[in-house]
Amino acid sequence: MVKICCIGAGYVGGPTMAMIAYKCPDVQVVVVDISASRINAWNSDHLPIFEPGLDDVVKSCRNKNLFFSTDVEAHIADSEIIFVSVNTPTKTRGLGAGKAADLTYWESAARMIADVAKTDKIVVEKSTVPVKTAEAIEKILTHNSKGVNFQILSNPEFLAEGTAMDDLAKPDRVLIGGRETPQGQKAVAALKAVYAKWIPENQIITMNLWSAELSKLAANAFLAQRISSINAMSALCEATGADVTEVAYAVGKDTRIGSRFLNASVGFGGSCFQKDILNLVYICECNGLPEVANYWRQVVQINDYQKARFVNRVVASMFNTVSGKKIAVLGFAFKKDTGDTRETPAIDVCLGLLGDKAQLSIYDPQVTEDQIGRDLATNKFDWDHPAHLVPTDPTAKKSVTKASNAYEAAKGAHGVCIMTEWDEFKTLDYQKIYDGMEKPAFFYDGRNVINVEALRKIGFIVYSVGKPLDPWMKDLPAAA
Ligand code: UDX
Ligand code: ADP
Repeated sequence: MVKICCIGAGYVGGPTMAMIAYKCPDVQVVVVDISASRINAWNSDHLPIFEPGLDDVVKSCRNKNLFFSTDVEAHIADSEIIFVSVNTPTKTRGLGAGKAADLTYWESAARMIADVAKTDKIVVEKSTVPVKTAEAIEKILTHNSKGVNFQILSNPEFLAEGTAMDDLAKPDRVLIGGRETPQGQKAVAALKAVYAKWIPENQIITMNLWSAELSKLAANAFLAQRISSINAMSALCEATGADVTEVAYAVGKDTRIGSRFLNASVGFGGSCFQKDILNLVYICECNGLPEVANYWRQVVQINDYQKARFVNRVVASMFNTVSGKKIAVLGFAFKKDTGDTRETPAIDVCLGLLGDKAQLSIYDPQVTEDQIGRDLATNKFDWDHPAHLVPTDPTAKKSVTKASNAYEAAKGAHGVCIMTEWDEFKTLDYQKIYDGMEKPAFFYDGRNVINVEALRKIGFIVYSVGKPLDPWMKDLPAAA
């Protein structure tokens, strides 16, 4: 029986290993983590992450060929293939602060592997890392090897949250990068054999290590660039009276461009896009390519601009002040069908509104009050550190409350902001919401989920990203 160990029981490690165990009954998979509370949750009825379809897969394999443990050392020692899926935050201080990946967790995992390994190991990079990380890790391992042979592979993950289980079951492609030596190729073949249990071989692409590492950064940069492109257009649509949905539809009909990932929004979030682009920017700078670095940096800058523009729309339309006004925030997760709030645009929008002294009432079906409090009290780039799990600063929560549904959030509010495209927001009783609000009642849709005309008919003053402006907003100062 092949034994696989995965270091890091997070959003990537947990679902990926569950799928491997599910599809490969003859492989034993153990997911290890230094966080006892995370491991306990994986072993309980309430998994630490919400992902459609994950519960069933975990329940069908757990304690058969899928295990969750805090005994990191023993399971590393015992396994042939070790996936490393730890967090790789953006550095907050020192060289490359605000851009470069902080490889502290990765390095400590590598040192641990070197320390406890008694037999040959295949070490697989699963978390997104800068190009050439494999080389650095290889050095740590070989300099501490005590005669053990280590082969490093890059096997980047392309799952998107909310659809992770489908993405894992039917991936567009699997990438495996390895050394072009006989031993390297043997390791590539061993990992390929695992995926080949359920993925057609022509979709498993093998390449050199650096290509695989860079492909992951490039794929995320291209995806984020599409969103920043349509969001940049949304600002122009608002200024000219065009409708961004119509523009996106027309553009996407060109088969060379394609229709996916062209939804204008308040901005992209999630643990990958911003981090990976900043990483790419840093790598370009380090390689003497400032023009390329600036090109990609602009994708993040437009994303920040889009969030700031949204806040300005809200404040400018509400008589230039939201001080003391209740504002309902519907949705806090970075997208629907996940409880994940990492880099969610809702954080910057809420902080912007709080900066103008608003009183926020936030409703999200999956995000806890504690998480919201922590997010609004966390410094930029600090969210990806385990220290993030420290209790909330109680002072940060004063002007923020969590509502248990959208109606409660909107009761007595001057404005409602949609931050996440949860399906339930499409079918709310907006007449009821309007009746319970202060007048004039303002509505700001950061995800284009509501029917603008229907809400205007009820009486709302409506802003929806990239849509023709409400007459109320036309004469206000240009946003952002
Ligand atoms: C992304 C990549 O899609 C995935 O391949 C990679 O492995 C990890 O990063 P994820 O961050 O989970 O996945 O979600 P994704 O669906 O890509 O959405 C990212 C952000 O972009 C979300 O905030 C989403 O709301 C936003 N988005 C997406 C838009 O604003 N408009 C779109 O058209 C698509
Ligand atoms: P991702 O989205 O990439 O999966 P997460 O932050 O959700 O990232 O998960 C990373 C996990 O890695 C965390 O649960 C963290 O506790 C764990 N981790 C970090 N360093 C180590 C380590 N040296 N050994 C074991 N687990 C680690």
